[in-house]
Amino acid sequence: MEPGLKNIIRARGIEKSFGSIRVLKNLDIDIREGEFLAIVGRSGVGKSTLLAILGTHDLAYDGMLEVDGKPVSALSRSRLAALRREYLGFVFQDFHLLPRLTAEENVILPAVFSGKNPEKARTTARHILAGLSVRADETPTSLLSRGERQRVAVARGLVNYPSVLLADEPSASLDRESEQSLFNLLDDLRKDQGFALVAVIHSKAVLNRADRIMELRDGMLHEVV
Ligand SMILES: Nc1ncnc2c1ncn2[C@@H]1O[C@H](COP(=O)(O)OP(=O)(O)OP(=O)(O)O)[C@@H](O)[C@H]1O
Ligand SMILES: [Mg+2]
Repeated sequence: MEPGLKNIIRARGIEKSFGSIRVLKNLDIDIREGEFLAIVGRSGVGKSTLLAILGTHDLAYDGMLEVDGKPVSALSRSRLAALRREYLGFVFQDFHLLPRLTAEENVILPAVFSGKNPEKARTTARHILAGLSVRADETPTSLLSRGERQRVAVARGLVNYPSVLLADEPSASLDRESEQSLFNLLDDLRKDQGFALVAVIHSKAVLNRADRIMELRDGMLHEVV
């Protein structure tokens, strides 16, 4: 899909420190509707920190963040939660799955929290899990392999039909072939649904698919050409 011209996320002058460590320094970023933006950078440089801010999970920073033109800092807690549910899907680097629930139950949780019809959510969850070759059955998620759990985490990020999927190294636990099938599926879903994909990526094969690559270095993003 050709990326749109509208920015679905806009951030300006983002500053983030942990104690005396300044991780993000006056960082700007625009995310265009429908684009695949890959973020690269060395370990510890602040990629997960940046994604947590863009995903509105971390609110303790300075600077301006807008999602679809709405300034995040102006929103009440409940409006922010509603905005997150409406626009954003998130795949955490360490998955954040509930170990006792099945794959399907983990995936439908965000949809249930959004007040969606559980049967519809179940159908969506099954569809995505099948696309990712993960069983939706009775097995607790804790017993699935790491790569399977990673795919469950991706499916969960997609269940609410986000405008932007923020994915933190979503194929880090996958072999090359599973990685390619994951990104084939993401390409197909993006063609259908038009969501933007912002992903921290290391694999060269996946970087080739991106519309843009930005490197996080010295607290700022630099276009990779
Ligand atoms: N909650 C926290 N408290 C203190 N320091 C933190 C916290 N979270 C992250 N940091 C520090 O901020 C820096 C950036 O961390 P972050 O996890 O964003 O890096 P990253 O680029 O995602 O690394 P990796 O590629 O290893 O996942 C690191 O120096 C890290 O130690
Ligand atoms: Mg990280």
